[in-house]
Amino acid sequence: MIISDDNNKNNNHKGASNGAPKCKSQDLETKELEFDKTYEKNIRPKTFDEYIGQSALKETLKITIEASKKRNIPLDHLLFYGPPGLGKTTLAGVIANEIGVNIKITSAPALERPRDIIGILMSLKGGEILFIDEIHRLNKVAEEILYPAMEDFFIDLTTGKSQSVKTMRVPVPKFTLIGATTKAGALSGPLRDRFGIIHRLEFYTIDELAQVIKRSAKILNIKIDDNGAKEIASRSRATPRIANRLIKRTADYALVKYDGKITQKIAKEALDSLCIDNLGLDNTDRALLELIIKNYDGGPVGVETLSVALGEDIRTIEDVYEPFLLQKGLLARTNRGRRATKLAYQHLGIKYLDQNGQIGLFD
Ligand SMILES: Nc1ncnc2c1ncn2[C@@H]1O[C@H](COP(=O)(O)OP(=O)(O)O)[C@@H](O)[C@H]1O
Ligand SMILES: [Mg+2]
Repeated sequence: MIISDDNNKNNNHKGASNGAPKCKSQDLETKELEFDKTYEKNIRPKTFDEYIGQSALKETLKITIEASKKRNIPLDHLLFYGPPGLGKTTLAGVIANEIGVNIKITSAPALERPRDIIGILMSLKGGEILFIDEIHRLNKVAEEILYPAMEDFFIDLTTGKSQSVKTMRVPVPKFTLIGATTKAGALSGPLRDRFGIIHRLEFYTIDELAQVIKRSAKILNIKIDDNGAKEIASRSRATPRIANRLIKRTADYALVKYDGKITQKIAKEALDSLCIDNLGLDNTDRALLELIIKNYDGGPVGVETLSVALGEDIRTIEDVYEPFLLQKGLLARTNRGRRATKLAYQHLGIKYLDQNGQIGLFD
């Protein structure tokens, strides 16, 4: 996640032992959005072969697809969850493409009124896929309309007012719902139960991300060598969306400052200039850890407090920043709040004092 550093102008990262550059803030966000629009469509994988990683999930899906073809029934409803940028939307598109059906894409906040969800269900054709992003944000009414549609392919329409209300049972075409969410835990039980397959998307390995990067580079006509791809991969927060953003930024840098080809040295320089350190942390990640360490003695501290201090909303902290910091073992979640781990101290080059005020050894 590359974001503007406006919120932490006053943070310098002195003493960082990680090679994190002391870099100035820049407004990266607007540029990123432009990039997303222009390139995202071209580099989005369309087949299982192009879709890198997530091999366990891909295997499960291939078998399910095959079985539903043999039985001549629509695919079970699927729920994908995991942090943003790991490929949930992309995978839904791949599935539709592999089955050879149309996909209608919407998101829960767009389904506010009953008629929104009814309209979209009625407009589906047999076998089609309905993709609902951020499905944990679906409201109760929409959910209740969805239950019988998912289970038995009908909806109950009510007509008339107060005393003369009539309910009509209307069939909807057999469809497959694919839901995506960053928060599986926020889904209601009854909704969750109606999915045949619930699967978490995993963070990507460096090798997988290097493949993503090389594939995108080819499509975008960017020259990059293996070590250049690995360097970007290792700083991409284990997330393909970020890898794709960084490759474009690095390519721009290589073109302006060098001959255009991305090598490890150039990738390092470019990413340093974007304030992305050797673990892939950006200024906000580091500011979050530093805040816990310097202002709260390493924690625990509540996410609400962090949110106010950083000027980031709670959801962004929980969905975007924390999963990767947790995965890297830099942050720990306790029932009293967030705690910076020894590793976080080490990464930021800050001395870790144990409970007795002794300098703790890093292990
Ligand atoms: N498995 C993958 N292989 C190659 N590229 C991927 C993969 N998953 C995601 N991407 C790339 O990352 C970007 C973000 O993926 P997306 O599906 O939008 O993530 P999510 O819906 O989980 O937030 C896409 O544009 C796509 O090009
Ligand atoms: Mg998505």
